[in-house]
Amino acid sequence: MATYQEFIQQNEDRDGVRFSWNLWPSSRLEATRLVVPVSCLFTPLKERPDLPPVQYEPVLCSRANCKAVLNPLCQVDYRAKIWACNFCFQRNPVSTPQWIKLSCRTKHYSTIEYRGRGPPNPLIFLYVVDTCLEEEDLQALKESLQMSLSLLPPNALVGLITFGRMVQVHELSCEGIAKSYVFRGTKELSSKQIQEMLGLTNPSASGPQGRPAAPQDPAVTCRFLQPVHKVDMNLTDLLGELQRDPWPVPQGKRPLRSTGIALSIAVGLLEGTFPNTGARVMMFMGGPPTQGPGMVVGDELKTPIRSWHDITKDNARHLKKATKYYDALANRAAVNGHSIDIYACALDQTGLLEMKCLSNLTGGHIAMGDSFNTSLFKQTFQRVFSKDHNGEFRMAFGGTLEVSTSRELKVSGAIGPCVSLNAKGPCISENEVGVGGTTQWKICSLSPSTTLVLYFEVVNQHNAPIPQGGRGAVQFVTQYQHSNTQRRIRVTTVARNWADAQSQIQHIESSFDQEASAVIMARLGVFRAESEEGPDVLRWLDRQLIRLCQKFGQFNKDDPTSFKLSESLSLYPQFMFHLRRSPFLQVFNNSPDECSYYRHHFVCQNLTQSLIMIQPILYSYSFHGPPEPVLLDSGSILPDRILLMDTFFQLVIYHGETIAQWRKAGYQEQPEYENFKHLLVAPVDDAQEILQTRFPMPRYIDTEHGGSQARFLLSKVNPSQTHNNLYSWGQETGAPILTDDVSLQVFMDHLKKLAVSSAT
Ligand SMILES: *[C@@H]1O[C@H](CO)[C@@H](O)[C@H](O)[C@H]1NC(C)=O
Ligand SMILES: *[C@@H]1O[C@H](CO)[C@@H](O)[C@H](O)[C@H]1NC(C)=O
Ligand SMILES: *[C@@H]1O[C@H](CO)[C@@H](O)[C@H](O)[C@H]1NC(C)=O
Ligand SMILES: *[C@@H]1O[C@H](CO)[C@@H](O)[C@H](O)[C@H]1NC(C)=O
Ligand SMILES: [Zn+2]
Repeated sequence: MATYQEFIQQNEDRDGVRFSWNLWPSSRLEATRLVVPVSCLFTPLKERPDLPPVQYEPVLCSRANCKAVLNPLCQVDYRAKIWACNFCFQRNPVSTPQWIKLSCRTKHYSTIEYRGRGPPNPLIFLYVVDTCLEEEDLQALKESLQMSLSLLPPNALVGLITFGRMVQVHELSCEGIAKSYVFRGTKELSSKQIQEMLGLTNPSASGPQGRPAAPQDPAVTCRFLQPVHKVDMNLTDLLGELQRDPWPVPQGKRPLRSTGIALSIAVGLLEGTFPNTGARVMMFMGGPPTQGPGMVVGDELKTPIRSWHDITKDNARHLKKATKYYDALANRAAVNGHSIDIYACALDQTGLLEMKCLSNLTGGHIAMGDSFNTSLFKQTFQRVFSKDHNGEFRMAFGGTLEVSTSRELKVSGAIGPCVSLNAKGPCISENEVGVGGTTQWKICSLSPSTTLVLYFEVVNQHNAPIPQGGRGAVQFVTQYQHSNTQRRIRVTTVARNWADAQSQIQHIESSFDQEASAVIMARLGVFRAESEEGPDVLRWLDRQLIRLCQKFGQFNKDDPTSFKLSESLSLYPQFMFHLRRSPFLQVFNNSPDECSYYRHHFVCQNLTQSLIMIQPILYSYSFHGPPEPVLLDSGSILPDRILLMDTFFQLVIYHGETIAQWRKAGYQEQPEYENFKHLLVAPVDDAQEILQTRFPMPRYIDTEHGGSQARFLLSKVNPSQTHNNLYSWGQETGAPILTDDVSLQVFMDHLKKLAVSSAT
């Protein structure tokens, strides 16, 4: 029999699904005792080059409130020509003559992708560009934008809005002089007003006020959203001619940026022209919004942008109002399937804290850098348009995810870049976790690594046993607009065995997926941290961990030294240790904007990337052997080693003391020390490989023993050598870390004590 490791891997590869438990406890009571809920990471568009879409449509269960898709778990009676739905037990008659062929093929596919119906939808990209930039930034940004035009498919529609003190919507006419519509940046406008001012409403249409013109009416959309192949040259010129915002900025003032109005016009424009069609708003900003609705800070430079200190003291004047404003915009965009990216490049904060829901509710990207003239921004932006093995964009639009469950299971909610579609149905749990109360979510933009966590509740009562050999099932139906403009429907149906948690607890334990569970619990923690105080969230996480150790640890009461965890749980406490120290929960080491940025990526990414974010990877390079992964521990920092640390957001190359001295002395330049040169180059090459593919591009840091940037490494490693035992520090024992937080050893000792204590 395959090990659980293999089983987990196969299921991930095939279906993009990883469950916390791969055997499910058969009653509600037992399920709650397992601490980690029955839940899964689900990657709807996991890359499956071996899975071309089939050309027919899914066959649906005929029961009105079920509509599950025929799948390999259904019982099929070929003679009677009936298939039984495995979710509601409806017996469905044959509806098409082809169906037997179809179900035979379906039989082997727990994941299958279908061509959807409907006309092709264009790809739409609306650029929203801040012009209050330094000359260097504006120049670099203009070049990146011009470059991006060459990456778009010729029939994609593009539009351009620029903003500074005023907002300009550019008409992209194919002939004659380009016009633009100018808006003040201070006055809030309704969607209808915006559409009227842009001439998007059709006055001859029936109805008293004039309805929005028919969507996709070429005459109307033509003016602001044009096919790339038609306006390519002109738009390139137009971008080339963009000037810095002409309004003078007095001494001691910030430029006036009408970011809030610019975004509301972008949302209103798409709402009026392409409702319910995928579209991507790409917003580039070089500083915080400083006027009008959505302003984050005033224009007086002597008033700094809000800090954690201001926020905790309830002293952040614009925070609530701005957040509310962007939240409302984000919801409008999400309802229409439009996603919003934020590319923020500035040395100071720009208001990501207030604006992040624009991206987190719409599946948009957030990229953050110091300047638009950096490879970090340029590469990251270029990677938005990266292509897969078929030469198609790694982005999909206008997605919806629908989840069905078999009767013993209900859906509690989802955490990820989605909004609720408020779809009521029989599978909704009253216990809401994350975004709940629905079985359908909208995901406006998806990439192959976009991952949601779905939480379930076992509802079977303790005294109502599950039939012998019974299996519970979950079906995920993802409908989306492929970047090649087709509609697609991907259906994944998975099942796991039920187990009696009293007689089979060891089997359940060995079915535990500790990597998936760490990410699942971490997302819950991060989600809670958005609305609860930091210490409360840490306490909650600690409590869950202690309960899990009490449930599954082997120990003699009140004897911490006897405590043991089985292999399937052995790494879990360590993940929690690093999570507690991570920037997702320890916010005060970073600005509010940085924290929003980190959290945004954490709640969107897949398992591999999430684990790196929780527990960074450390590699060691030395003369003692080939490069090898080493413990994320201060003991790994040695004088004659080079370390490469990957935190997902940063790549740090750290040269140990001796190596740093040799490097400074220039040994690598001398032919007789060629092997030293190779040693220096090896981690750089490995870092390059990651830099070339990671999205967003990580920050690259080259540092050494005693270097100021060494803090990036020192803040991540387990402080096993703190100042408490600094005296024992010698040549070989690694570098001491000056930190007040406890080491993994202390954490584990404490955990064991609490877990075995008869008092808790
Ligand atoms: C961008 O940065 C590069 C390298 O630092 C510099 O050479 C170039 O002149 C900068 N671009 C602009 C437009 O200033
Ligand atoms: C667009 O380009 C064409 C051909 O180069 C030119 O004749 C026309 O004036 C341009 N239109 C605008 C708005 O610049
Ligand atoms: C998205 O942002 C909002 C507030 O800006 C926050 O309440 C919510 O928890 C975030 N969602 C996720 C999944 O992070
Ligand atoms: C997660 O995404 C990264 C980057 O797209 C990819 O290399 C990796 O294989 C993915 N992991 C899983 C588990 O799908
Ligand atoms: Zn059914």
